[in-house]
Amino acid sequence: MSNVIAIDVGYSHVKAVSKDGRIVLPSVVAPARELSLSEFAQKTGYLVTIQQSENPPRKYFVGELAIKEGQGATFTTDREKHRHPNHDILVLTVSKLLGAEPGATLVAGLPIAYYKAQKEELQKHLEQLTAEVATGNGEPKQISFGRVVIYPQGAGALLKAPLLANSGTVLLVDVGQKTTDYVTAEIVNDVVRPIASLCGSIETAVSTVYDAFAVEFQALTGSPISPVRVIEIVRGSGMVTFNGKEYDFRQLIRTIKENVSRSIFDQVQAALGERFSFLSRIYLAGGGALALPMLADFFPNAIHIPEPQWANAQGFLSIV
Ligand SMILES: Nc1ncnc2c1ncn2[C@@H]1O[C@H](COP(=O)(O)OP(=O)(O)OP(=O)(O)O)[C@@H](O)[C@H]1O
Ligand SMILES: [Mg+2]
Repeated sequence: MSNVIAIDVGYSHVKAVSKDGRIVLPSVVAPARELSLSEFAQKTGYLVTIQQSENPPRKYFVGELAIKEGQGATFTTDREKHRHPNHDILVLTVSKLLGAEPGATLVAGLPIAYYKAQKEELQKHLEQLTAEVATGNGEPKQISFGRVVIYPQGAGALLKAPLLANSGTVLLVDVGQKTTDYVTAEIVNDVVRPIASLCGSIETAVSTVYDAFAVEFQALTGSPISPVRVIEIVRGSGMVTFNGKEYDFRQLIRTIKENVSRSIFDQVQAALGERFSFLSRIYLAGGGALALPMLADFFPNAIHIPEPQWANAQGFLSIV
Protein backbone atom coordinates (compact mmCIF):
# COMPACT_ATOMS: atom_id res chain seq x y z
CA MET A 1 0.00 0.00 0.00
CA SER A 2 1.35 3.30 -0.83
CA ASN A 3 0.42 6.90 -0.57
CA VAL A 4 3.09 8.54 -2.67
CA ILE A 5 3.43 7.55 -6.30
CA ALA A 6 5.77 8.94 -8.93
CA ILE A 7 4.92 8.35 -12.57
CA ASP A 8 6.93 9.07 -15.72
CA VAL A 9 4.57 8.58 -18.67
CA GLY A 10 6.84 8.21 -21.67
CA TYR A 11 6.01 7.73 -25.33
CA SER A 12 7.31 4.17 -25.15
CA HIS A 13 6.98 3.10 -21.50
CA VAL A 14 5.29 4.19 -18.30
CA LYS A 15 7.63 4.01 -15.33
CA ALA A 16 5.98 4.22 -11.91
CA VAL A 17 7.54 3.93 -8.47
CA SER A 18 6.43 4.05 -4.86
CA LYS A 19 8.50 3.32 -1.78
CA ASP A 20 7.24 -0.27 -1.87
CA GLY A 21 7.55 -1.20 -5.51
CA ARG A 22 7.89 -0.21 -9.11
CA ILE A 23 6.32 -1.05 -12.41
CA VAL A 24 7.13 -0.50 -16.08
CA LEU A 25 4.74 -1.16 -18.95
CA PRO A 26 4.57 -0.21 -22.60
CA SER A 27 2.49 2.96 -23.09
CA VAL A 28 -0.10 1.21 -25.20
CA VAL A 29 -3.87 1.06 -24.65
CA ALA A 30 -6.54 -0.75 -26.68
CA PRO A 31 -10.25 -1.32 -26.21
CA ALA A 32 -10.64 -4.78 -24.61
CA ARG A 33 -12.18 -7.71 -26.42
CA GLU A 34 -13.40 -10.96 -24.85
CA LEU A 35 -10.65 -13.48 -24.10
CA SER A 36 -11.30 -16.99 -22.80
CA LEU A 37 -9.89 -17.70 -19.34
CA SER A 38 -7.26 -20.09 -20.71
CA GLU A 39 -6.25 -17.58 -23.34
CA PHE A 40 -6.03 -14.96 -20.65
CA ALA A 41 -3.88 -17.06 -18.33
CA GLN A 42 -1.08 -17.13 -20.89
CA LYS A 43 -0.89 -13.41 -21.39
CA THR A 44 1.22 -10.73 -19.81
CA GLY A 45 -0.23 -7.27 -19.50
CA TYR A 46 -3.43 -6.04 -17.97
CA LEU A 47 -7.14 -6.02 -18.48
CA VAL A 48 -8.28 -2.84 -16.77
CA THR A 49 -11.82 -1.76 -15.96
CA ILE A 50 -12.33 1.94 -15.37
CA GLN A 51 -15.50 3.64 -14.25
CA GLN A 52 -15.67 7.41 -14.14
CA SER A 53 -18.61 9.44 -12.72
CA GLU A 54 -21.95 7.99 -13.85
CA ASN A 55 -20.63 6.43 -17.05
CA PRO A 56 -20.77 2.67 -17.57
CA PRO A 57 -17.46 0.90 -16.84
CA ARG A 58 -15.03 0.66 -19.75
CA LYS A 59 -12.56 -2.15 -20.31
CA TYR A 60 -9.10 -1.74 -21.79
CA PHE A 61 -6.07 -3.83 -22.56
CA VAL A 62 -3.02 -2.03 -21.23
CA GLY A 63 0.67 -2.68 -21.88
CA GLU A 64 1.83 -5.96 -23.47
CA LEU A 65 -1.72 -7.23 -23.73
CA ALA A 66 -2.71 -4.22 -25.83
CA ILE A 67 0.22 -4.81 -28.18
CA LYS A 68 -0.55 -8.51 -28.65
CA GLU A 69 -4.33 -8.62 -28.48
CA GLY A 70 -5.54 -5.15 -29.12
CA GLN A 71 -7.32 -4.19 -32.24
CA GLY A 72 -6.84 -0.49 -32.53
CA ALA A 73 -3.97 -0.42 -30.05
CA THR A 74 -2.77 3.14 -29.76
CA PHE A 75 0.67 4.36 -28.99
CA THR A 76 0.46 8.07 -28.49
CA THR A 77 2.47 10.01 -30.98
CA ASP A 78 0.77 13.31 -30.18
CA ARG A 79 3.23 16.07 -29.49
CA GLU A 80 1.38 16.66 -26.25
CA LYS A 81 1.07 13.13 -24.89
CA HIS A 82 -0.39 14.23 -21.56
CA ARG A 83 -3.44 15.61 -23.36
CA HIS A 84 -4.25 12.22 -24.91
CA PRO A 85 -6.96 10.12 -23.18
CA ASN A 86 -4.49 7.21 -22.88
CA HIS A 87 -2.51 9.30 -20.41
CA ASP A 88 -5.29 9.05 -17.79
CA ILE A 89 -5.79 5.33 -18.42
CA LEU A 90 -2.08 4.66 -17.94
CA VAL A 91 -1.87 6.82 -14.78
CA LEU A 92 -4.94 5.11 -13.26
CA THR A 93 -3.64 1.64 -14.15
CA VAL A 94 -0.19 1.97 -12.61
CA SER A 95 -1.61 3.78 -9.55
CA LYS A 96 -3.98 0.85 -8.95
CA LEU A 97 -1.17 -1.67 -9.51
CA LEU A 98 1.07 0.12 -7.01
CA GLY A 99 -1.69 0.19 -4.41
CA ALA A 100 -2.41 3.95 -4.30
CA GLU A 101 -4.91 4.90 -1.61
CA PRO A 102 -7.64 7.48 -2.34
CA GLY A 103 -6.12 10.93 -1.86
CA ALA A 104 -2.59 9.72 -2.59
CA THR A 105 0.19 12.13 -3.53
CA LEU A 106 1.17 11.94 -7.17
CA VAL A 107 4.34 13.30 -8.79
CA ALA A 108 4.24 13.33 -12.59
CA GLY A 109 6.47 14.74 -15.29
CA LEU A 110 6.21 16.98 -18.32
CA PRO A 111 8.77 17.49 -21.09
CA ILE A 112 10.76 20.63 -20.40
CA ALA A 113 9.46 22.22 -23.60
CA TYR A 114 5.89 22.23 -22.27
CA TYR A 115 6.60 22.65 -18.58
CA LYS A 116 5.95 26.37 -18.12
CA ALA A 117 2.91 26.55 -20.37
CA GLN A 118 1.12 23.37 -19.28
CA LYS A 119 2.19 22.56 -15.74
CA GLU A 120 -0.90 24.07 -14.12
CA GLU A 121 -3.34 22.58 -16.60
CA LEU A 122 -1.93 19.09 -16.06
CA GLN A 123 -1.84 19.52 -12.30
CA LYS A 124 -5.52 20.60 -12.16
CA HIS A 125 -6.49 17.82 -14.52
CA LEU A 126 -4.84 15.14 -12.39
CA GLU A 127 -6.25 16.61 -9.17
CA GLN A 128 -9.73 16.21 -10.63
CA LEU A 129 -9.11 12.74 -11.99
CA THR A 130 -11.07 10.15 -10.05
CA ALA A 131 -12.21 6.67 -11.01
CA GLU A 132 -13.07 3.18 -9.81
CA VAL A 133 -10.32 0.98 -11.21
CA ALA A 134 -10.07 -2.82 -11.32
CA THR A 135 -7.32 -4.95 -12.83
CA GLY A 136 -8.00 -8.47 -14.06
CA ASN A 137 -10.92 -9.95 -12.12
CA GLY A 138 -10.04 -8.04 -8.97
CA GLU A 139 -12.26 -5.76 -6.93
CA PRO A 140 -12.54 -2.16 -8.08
CA LYS A 141 -10.81 0.44 -6.00
CA GLN A 142 -11.17 4.20 -5.97
CA ILE A 143 -8.18 6.08 -7.28
CA SER A 144 -7.85 9.82 -6.71
CA PHE A 145 -5.04 12.17 -5.82
CA GLY A 146 -5.07 14.61 -2.92
CA ARG A 147 -1.91 16.36 -3.98
CA VAL A 148 -0.33 16.53 -7.42
CA VAL A 149 3.17 17.80 -8.13
CA ILE A 150 4.36 18.31 -11.71
CA TYR A 151 8.09 18.18 -12.26
CA PRO A 152 10.15 18.67 -15.43
CA GLN A 153 11.45 15.47 -17.05
CA GLY A 154 15.21 15.32 -17.00
CA ALA A 155 15.32 17.46 -13.88
CA GLY A 156 13.89 14.43 -12.07
CA ALA A 157 16.71 12.26 -13.38
CA LEU A 158 19.28 14.83 -12.30
CA LEU A 159 18.22 14.30 -8.69
CA LYS A 160 19.50 10.73 -9.09
CA ALA A 161 22.86 11.80 -10.54
CA PRO A 162 25.94 11.05 -8.48
CA LEU A 163 27.11 14.65 -8.01
CA LEU A 164 30.85 14.54 -7.94
CA ALA A 165 31.50 18.15 -7.01
CA ASN A 166 29.59 20.60 -4.88
CA SER A 167 29.86 23.42 -7.39
CA GLY A 168 29.93 23.89 -11.15
CA THR A 169 27.54 23.56 -14.06
CA VAL A 170 26.26 20.14 -15.09
CA LEU A 171 24.19 18.86 -18.01
CA LEU A 172 21.80 15.93 -18.02
CA VAL A 173 20.61 14.49 -21.33
CA ASP A 174 17.52 12.24 -21.07
CA VAL A 175 17.20 10.34 -24.34
CA GLY A 176 13.70 8.90 -24.59
CA GLN A 177 11.59 7.41 -27.33
CA LYS A 178 10.40 10.55 -29.07
CA THR A 179 12.00 13.39 -27.15
CA THR A 180 15.42 14.11 -25.74
CA ASP A 181 15.25 16.48 -22.79
CA TYR A 182 18.35 18.37 -21.73
CA VAL A 183 18.69 20.09 -18.39
CA THR A 184 21.60 22.34 -17.49
CA ALA A 185 21.92 23.12 -13.82
CA GLU A 186 24.18 24.98 -11.47
CA ILE A 187 25.31 23.24 -8.34
CA VAL A 188 25.75 25.55 -5.41
CA ASN A 189 26.59 23.91 -2.10
CA ASP A 190 25.08 20.60 -3.23
CA VAL A 191 21.80 22.25 -4.31
CA VAL A 192 20.86 21.70 -7.96
CA ARG A 193 19.42 24.78 -9.67
CA PRO A 194 18.28 24.35 -13.30
CA ILE A 195 19.12 27.25 -15.63
CA ALA A 196 15.86 27.71 -17.55
CA SER A 197 17.42 29.28 -20.64
CA LEU A 198 19.71 26.25 -21.05
CA CYS A 199 17.02 23.57 -20.73
CA GLY A 200 14.82 22.22 -23.50
CA SER A 201 13.59 19.30 -25.58
CA ILE A 202 14.53 18.16 -29.06
CA GLU A 203 12.59 15.67 -31.13
CA THR A 204 15.46 13.38 -32.01
CA ALA A 205 15.54 10.23 -29.88
CA VAL A 206 15.37 6.43 -30.15
CA SER A 207 12.35 6.51 -32.51
CA THR A 208 14.53 8.40 -35.00
CA VAL A 209 16.60 5.21 -35.29
CA TYR A 210 13.48 3.11 -35.89
CA ASP A 211 12.15 5.50 -38.53
CA ALA A 212 15.47 5.58 -40.39
CA PHE A 213 15.71 1.79 -40.29
CA ALA A 214 12.19 1.40 -41.71
CA VAL A 215 13.11 3.64 -44.66
CA GLU A 216 16.32 1.68 -45.36
CA PHE A 217 14.51 -1.64 -45.01
CA GLN A 218 12.00 -0.63 -47.65
CA ALA A 219 14.75 0.64 -49.95
CA LEU A 220 16.70 -2.63 -49.64
CA THR A 221 13.84 -5.13 -49.77
CA GLY A 222 11.17 -3.24 -51.66
CA SER A 223 8.67 -3.93 -48.86
CA PRO A 224 7.32 -1.77 -46.05
CA ILE A 225 7.76 -3.00 -42.46
CA SER A 226 5.59 -2.66 -39.35
CA PRO A 227 6.84 -0.69 -36.32
CA VAL A 228 6.71 -3.81 -34.10
CA ARG A 229 9.02 -5.71 -36.50
CA VAL A 230 11.41 -2.75 -36.71
CA ILE A 231 11.88 -2.75 -32.93
CA GLU A 232 12.39 -6.52 -32.95
CA ILE A 233 15.16 -6.29 -35.57
CA VAL A 234 16.92 -3.20 -34.21
CA ARG A 235 16.94 -4.52 -30.64
CA GLY A 236 17.70 -8.07 -31.78
CA SER A 237 20.65 -9.56 -33.60
CA GLY A 238 20.24 -7.51 -36.79
CA MET A 239 20.22 -10.71 -38.86
CA VAL A 240 16.98 -11.38 -40.72
CA THR A 241 15.60 -13.83 -43.23
CA PHE A 242 13.03 -12.07 -45.38
CA ASN A 243 11.25 -13.71 -48.33
CA GLY A 244 13.90 -16.43 -48.40
CA LYS A 245 16.83 -14.04 -48.45
CA GLU A 246 19.38 -13.48 -45.67
CA TYR A 247 19.99 -9.89 -44.62
CA ASP A 248 22.71 -8.73 -42.26
CA PHE A 249 21.62 -5.31 -40.99
CA ARG A 250 24.25 -5.02 -38.24
CA GLN A 251 26.43 -2.42 -39.95
CA LEU A 252 23.41 -0.44 -41.13
CA ILE A 253 21.95 -0.33 -37.60
CA ARG A 254 25.31 0.74 -36.16
CA THR A 255 25.62 3.53 -38.72
CA ILE A 256 22.07 4.77 -38.10
CA LYS A 257 22.65 4.78 -34.31
CA GLU A 258 25.88 6.71 -34.78
CA ASN A 259 24.16 9.28 -36.97
CA VAL A 260 21.32 9.72 -34.49
CA SER A 261 23.76 10.00 -31.58
CA ARG A 262 25.74 12.62 -33.47
CA SER A 263 22.58 14.54 -34.29
CA ILE A 264 21.51 14.57 -30.62
CA PHE A 265 24.97 15.75 -29.62
CA ASP A 266 25.04 18.49 -32.27
CA GLN A 267 21.61 19.85 -31.31
CA VAL A 268 22.31 19.87 -27.58
CA GLN A 269 25.72 21.43 -28.08
CA ALA A 270 24.24 24.12 -30.34
CA ALA A 271 21.51 24.88 -27.77
CA LEU A 272 24.08 25.46 -25.03
CA GLY A 273 26.46 27.47 -27.18
CA GLU A 274 29.68 28.48 -25.46
CA ARG A 275 28.40 27.22 -22.09
CA PHE A 276 28.80 23.67 -23.40
CA SER A 277 32.58 23.93 -23.18
CA PHE A 278 32.43 24.97 -19.53
CA LEU A 279 30.39 22.05 -18.21
CA SER A 280 31.95 20.24 -15.29
CA ARG A 281 29.96 17.06 -15.83
CA ILE A 282 27.58 15.47 -18.35
CA TYR A 283 25.07 12.76 -17.42
CA LEU A 284 23.11 10.45 -19.71
CA ALA A 285 19.70 9.06 -18.75
CA GLY A 286 16.58 7.57 -20.35
CA GLY A 287 16.28 4.24 -22.14
CA GLY A 288 18.16 5.92 -25.00
CA ALA A 289 21.34 5.88 -22.89
CA LEU A 290 21.14 2.06 -23.23
CA ALA A 291 19.78 1.92 -26.78
CA LEU A 292 22.48 4.31 -28.05
CA PRO A 293 25.69 3.37 -26.22
CA MET A 294 27.75 5.43 -28.70
CA LEU A 295 26.32 8.62 -27.17
CA ALA A 296 29.18 8.26 -24.71
CA ASP A 297 31.67 8.67 -27.60
CA PHE A 298 30.20 12.05 -28.46
CA PHE A 299 29.52 13.59 -25.05
CA PRO A 300 32.94 14.02 -23.43
CA ASN A 301 33.37 12.07 -20.17
CA ALA A 302 29.64 11.45 -19.90
CA ILE A 303 28.45 9.41 -16.93
CA HIS A 304 25.54 7.00 -17.24
CA ILE A 305 22.96 7.42 -14.49
CA PRO A 306 22.34 4.03 -12.86
CA GLU A 307 19.11 2.43 -14.15
CA PRO A 308 18.72 5.24 -16.68
CA GLN A 309 15.17 4.40 -17.75
CA TRP A 310 13.98 4.70 -14.13
CA ALA A 311 15.89 7.85 -13.26
CA ASN A 312 13.08 10.37 -13.74
CA ALA A 313 10.47 8.42 -11.80
CA GLN A 314 12.92 7.74 -8.97
CA GLY A 315 13.91 11.40 -8.90
CA PHE A 316 10.25 12.46 -8.80
CA LEU A 317 9.67 10.20 -5.80
CA SER A 318 12.54 11.78 -3.94
CA ILE A 319 11.08 15.34 -4.02
CA VAL A 320 8.04 14.72 -1.80
N1 LIG B 1 18.14 -2.02 -22.04
C1 LIG B 1 17.76 -1.39 -23.16
N2 LIG B 1 18.39 -1.65 -24.33
C2 LIG B 1 18.03 -1.05 -25.47
N3 LIG B 1 17.01 -0.17 -25.55
C3 LIG B 1 16.35 0.13 -24.42
C4 LIG B 1 16.69 -0.46 -23.16
N4 LIG B 1 15.85 0.04 -22.23
C5 LIG B 1 15.03 0.88 -22.86
N5 LIG B 1 15.32 0.96 -24.18
C6 LIG B 1 14.66 1.75 -25.23
O1 LIG B 1 14.95 3.11 -25.05
C7 LIG B 1 13.90 3.89 -25.58
C8 LIG B 1 13.55 5.00 -24.65
O2 LIG B 1 13.01 4.48 -23.45
P1 LIG B 1 12.39 5.48 -22.36
O3 LIG B 1 11.56 4.68 -21.41
O4 LIG B 1 13.45 6.34 -21.80
O5 LIG B 1 11.45 6.36 -23.30
P2 LIG B 1 10.15 7.18 -22.90
O6 LIG B 1 10.39 7.86 -21.58
O7 LIG B 1 8.99 6.25 -22.96
O8 LIG B 1 10.07 8.23 -24.09
P3 LIG B 1 9.92 9.83 -24.04
O9 LIG B 1 10.86 10.32 -22.97
O10 LIG B 1 10.30 10.26 -25.43
O11 LIG B 1 8.48 10.10 -23.73
C9 LIG B 1 12.75 2.93 -25.89
O12 LIG B 1 12.73 2.67 -27.29
C10 LIG B 1 13.13 1.68 -25.12
O13 LIG B 1 12.62 0.52 -25.73
MG1 LIG C 1 11.19 9.72 -21.01
